[in-house]
Amino acid sequence: TKKPVIAIDGFSSTGKSSISKIIAKTLGLIHMDTGALYRGITYFALQNCIDDNNAVDIDRLIKNLPKINLEFQNVDAELQLFMNGNNINKEIRFPQVSDHVSQVAKVADVRNFLLKTQRDIAEKGGVIMDGRDIGTVVLPNADFKFFMTASQDERARRRFLELELAGEKTDIETVKQNLISRDKIDSEREVSPLKQADDAILIDNTDINKEETIALILSYIKKF
Ligand code: C5P
Repeated sequence: TKKPVIAIDGFSSTGKSSISKIIAKTLGLIHMDTGALYRGITYFALQNCIDDNNAVDIDRLIKNLPKINLEFQNVDAELQLFMNGNNINKEIRFPQVSDHVSQVAKVADVRNFLLKTQRDIAEKGGVIMDGRDIGTVVLPNADFKFFMTASQDERARRRFLELELAGEKTDIETVKQNLISRDKIDSEREVSPLKQADDAILIDNTDINKEETIALILSYIKKF
């Protein structure tokens, strides 16, 4: 039997990626964290396309897109992101990248540039992809679609703990403001805005933990 294609979209820091990773392992699927791709482009822009006001020069970035080669490689049993041969898996989580990524992700040329990479992976089936527009735009024919949400405070708390564990110096209010600002830009942009697909199942995990969220999602997949 053909393995399913699963789309998981939702707000920032709802646990989409870490949950998708475990579901992939459980069901024997490939997991693709599409946010990493937008972060990779943003990391490139921060290094190569900054204007005099310290903002990303979008025109210059668009001209440079053909020079960017992003690919996932298997390292320590997980897919890590490489840009032009360099492992940038750690760098793409830096707060500076988080602060600029949504400005970069709203650019139509950037989204088109990444569309093929994402669709190619899903072609053979057996994939779980997490992001913002997977169920609506990238894989509208996915077998299962989920849309994840949780309260802002709970998401900020989780993200803060994660950053703290990674040794990043930050505070919970800064983390919360970044989440709010990204969600706003992501939801209000013209191209492929963050929104629940009509046929997506809503998962609110404010009051349930990671294991319970995974069990809930798996219960829908089994019911199919
Ligand atoms: O998933 P993550 O929080 O790492 O994504 C970072 C940013 O990349 C999001 O805030 C959003 O601006 C952008 N993104 C997107 N479409 C996707 C995945 C991520 O626009 N499918």
